[in-house]
Amino acid sequence: MADLNLILLGPPGAGKGTQAERIREDEDLAYIATGDMLRQAVAEGTPLGVQAKSFMDAGDLVPDEVIIGMIGDRLGSADARDGFLLDGFPRTIGQAEALDVALRQHERDLTAVVLFEVPDEEIVRRISGRRVSAAGRVYHVEFDPPKTEGIDDIDGTPLIQRDDDRPDTVLKRLAVYHDQTSPLIGYYEERGLLQRIDGTLSPAEVRDHVRGTLATLKREADF
Ligand code: AP5
Repeated sequence: MADLNLILLGPPGAGKGTQAERIREDEDLAYIATGDMLRQAVAEGTPLGVQAKSFMDAGDLVPDEVIIGMIGDRLGSADARDGFLLDGFPRTIGQAEALDVALRQHERDLTAVVLFEVPDEEIVRRISGRRVSAAGRVYHVEFDPPKTEGIDDIDGTPLIQRDDDRPDTVLKRLAVYHDQTSPLIGYYEERGLLQRIDGTLSPAEVRDHVRGTLATLKREADF
């Protein structure tokens, strides 16, 4: 039986984290989100976190060698053996090539790269209204509100706004996406792995499209 090995790709605020939560309700996959891993390192004040913080606050990418080291360890861990969901990695051609090498070493194949397509002006609206819980659950004050304003539905802790969600940093992150990450669309399209999803629909509609896409992939691969 083949593993389900997925990458979620798209601009900042496209809904990768939101849909990752929903995919994980349906599929038992190791969830590997480089942004969450880095934010945890920053919160814990580890050497990695100290190194990463200035890049993240400026809206820049953390250098490839730092990220590749971090992800290589995680891909080799036991829970990733039966399938994984990568969110926010790879983000450069260099990272994608390093991932190819790591997968070959572990004799694994990518199943698909799911691209969430959302125009820049919508991204700015989404990120300015985003609120997150300490555990990383994602809400939007207008589009996906919690049951009680400012409070996480699951553990009741206060929701916060991310440090890098300031308007000027968001514009920088978008520019970095177009410059350094969007070339991955062609990289994976050439390999026949790209699945495009209209990310402008509601979270529930996007979920339905993702479910349909994954169901087709599973049928084709005879999971
Ligand atoms: P990271 O945490 O990965 O951030 P990102 O890619 O910029 O993505 P976001 O988390 O901002 O957005 P998302 O697509 O998950 O959207 P969400 O679901 O939250 O990275 C942060 C930083 O870490 C980077 O800038 C970089 O410095 C560093 N980093 C991380 N990985 C790296 C790597 N590989 N290499 C180098 N550096 C790295 O949704 C956004 C909002 O919209 C939410 O409020 C949500 O409720 C709402 N929403 C979601 N879907 C919908 C919908 N369909 N309709 C309406 N609203 C919606």
